[in-house]
Amino acid sequence: MRIVLLGAPGSGKGTQAKKLMADKNIPQVSTGDMLREAVATGTRFGLKAKSIMEAGNLVPDDVVLGIISERLGQPDAQEGFILDGFPRTTQQALDLEELLDEMGTPLDTAVLMDVDFDILMKRLTGRRTCSLTGKLLNVYFSSQAELDECTDAGGELVQREDDNEETIGNRLSVYRENTEPLIEFYKKREKLTTIDAEGAIDEVYTRLRESLQ
Ligand code: AP5
Ligand code: MG
Repeated sequence: MRIVLLGAPGSGKGTQAKKLMADKNIPQVSTGDMLREAVATGTRFGLKAKSIMEAGNLVPDDVVLGIISERLGQPDAQEGFILDGFPRTTQQALDLEELLDEMGTPLDTAVLMDVDFDILMKRLTGRRTCSLTGKLLNVYFSSQAELDECTDAGGELVQREDDNEETIGNRLSVYRENTEPLIEFYKKREKLTTIDAEGAIDEVYTRLRESLQ
C-alpha cells in the first residue's frame, strides 16, 4: 500500500500514520520528523533548515526530494509506505509521481484529512511529545492517565519549536497557499479520498481504514 496523507498542520497525519504503520507493517515516512532529526543532529544542512522550520516556512523542494528518494529506496519501503507531510507543493507532487514511475510503483491513494481550521489551533498549541517514547500527546485532548504514563516513567512532555501561535498562523497560511492545490492535483488523477478527521483519534482511524478498503 502506497499512500499519501494530505492535510493541514494538526490534522492528525502523524497520529494516524503511526497507527497505520503498526497495523500494516509499512513505514511512516515523515519529512517533518526527518528534518527535525537533521536539525537535532546539527549537520550543516540541519542548521539551515532550523530557521526555516522555526518560522513555519517550507524547506526547498530539491532538498526534500533528495531526502524522500533516498528513504523510499530503502528495503523496508519496498512493500509500501505512508507519506506524512510530503508532498506539500505541486512541484513535490510532480517529482514524487516521476520517482514512483521510475520505480514502477505508482501511488495508490492520497487521503485528505479534513479538519476545521479552529480545531487545528487547539490541537497544535496543545501538542506535546513524550521524551521517553516519542508518543504524540495533547494537553487538551489526551486523558490525564496517558499524560501521567509519560511523566510517571520519568519522561517529559516536550513542545515542538514551531508550535507557538505565531508560527502556527504562518504554517496554516503556507498550507493554504502551497499545499491545498494538491487536493485538485490528486482529484484530477482520480486518487483523492477525503475523510472527516474530526472526533476521537480511534473514530478517525476507523474512517481511514474504511477509506483504504
Ligand atoms: P511537519 O512535521 O510535517 O508538520 P505539519 O505539516 O505542520 O503537521 P504537524 O506534524 O504539525 O501535524 P500532524 O497532521 O502530523 O498532526 P499530529 O498527528 O501531530 O512539518 C514541519 C516543518 O518541516 C514544516 O513547517 C516545514 O518547515 C518542514 N517540512 C516538512 N515537510 C516538508 C516538505 N515536504 N517540504 C518542505 N518543507 C517541509 O496531531 C497534532 C496534535 O493533535 C497532537 O497533539 C495529537 O495528539 C492531536 N490529535 C491528533 N488527532 C486528534 C484527534 N482526532 N482528536 C484530538 N486530538 C488529536
Ligand atoms: Mg506531523
